[in-house]
Amino acid sequence: MVSRLLTNIGELLTNNAELGDHSPVGRLRDAALVVDDERVLWVGDSSSAPDADERYDAGGAAVVPGFVDSHTHLIFAGERSDEFEARMAGRPYDGRGIARTVEATRAASDEQLRQESGIRLGALRAGGVTTVEVKSGYSLDVAGEARLVDLASEITDEVTFLGAHVVPREFTHDRGAYVELVAGEMMRRCAGAKWTDVFCDDGAFDVDEARVVLNAGRAAGHELRLHANQLRDIGAISLAVEMDCASVDHCTYVDDEDVERLAGSHTVATLLPGAEFSTRSPYPSGRRLRDAGVTVALATDCNPGTSYVTSMSFVIALAVREMGLSVDEAVWSATRGGAAALRRDDVGHLSVGARADLVILNAPRVAHLAYRPGASLVREVWRNGVE
Ligand code: NIG
Ligand code: FE
Repeated sequence: MVSRLLTNIGELLTNNAELGDHSPVGRLRDAALVVDDERVLWVGDSSSAPDADERYDAGGAAVVPGFVDSHTHLIFAGERSDEFEARMAGRPYDGRGIARTVEATRAASDEQLRQESGIRLGALRAGGVTTVEVKSGYSLDVAGEARLVDLASEITDEVTFLGAHVVPREFTHDRGAYVELVAGEMMRRCAGAKWTDVFCDDGAFDVDEARVVLNAGRAAGHELRLHANQLRDIGAISLAVEMDCASVDHCTYVDDEDVERLAGSHTVATLLPGAEFSTRSPYPSGRRLRDAGVTVALATDCNPGTSYVTSMSFVIALAVREMGLSVDEAVWSATRGGAAALRRDDVGHLSVGARADLVILNAPRVAHLAYRPGASLVREVWRNGVE
């Protein structure tokens, strides 16, 4: 296995508080890193770096762990820019557009879905994402959801079954039957996923319906995550904590009790500022959650309705500008926070033994990620040590 020395790093965030400045991001300056094809082998000052088979000079650039995008709906067909335009003119988001994407996705061939999702995946990767979660949820029938789970498995191990996205048209007059189908036959056919998720919100599924689906997911061997309180506070965060979900996502509406519950739990709050941006909704405060001791993750929520976002840099910039996080906190949330939301310890940091996933920036300081929104700041992405 070839070892590679990455040296002359101007600013390195390791996300290991035992390293460098001992802050949560474990910052080192004038740093170096040695990796092999899979793992980080050494990290420290460039002056004391060991020899390696190959040497790469970062030229004073900043380096961060690869981004962990823990919430995407990457596999779908079509687009809904007309809804975005209507929202910018004042029309609120209500989730009804999901049915349009379901129609387009059902009609698309496997090849078309692979091709369209592949373009989005390429954009995420080019922007520094090295671990990605992908949900089903745009077919809402047994064979179609199983197909989306299979297509997602071609991309990642972090596959989420979201049959409970909304009630499809065919079941509008018998929601109970749809919940039964999702928790029964559809769940069995989608058992190969790793996670079960439910859109628990106004116009989607209520807390009792979501609990039925989450329990079925757990019985099928899945771990759990939840879309919660994006449109209104319907008590979904408390359900996520009750069910020990790894992550509760959106949290656009959070009350003080939810904050306390989350702080006393193992559930990560995943904030999706691309969704507030694209639906013109109020941003939840990342500051308030962090100050209370809640673990906060940031993700793109890439989907055609509420957040057609494929840039984690943009998400970081929004979280800094609109959610009260410092740059260090936002970058931590987009890396180690995302890993925590997937209950992963091997990614999201650059300690010895971690996966060799990193991003070399076109900038001397990590702060440029928020300071220069819209700029193309990713010079190179090493994924498992491979460029
Ligand atoms: O995470 N909130 C539910 N699901 C997606 C939006 C889906 C859509 O509008 O197509 C989300 O925002
Ligand atoms: Fe989502």
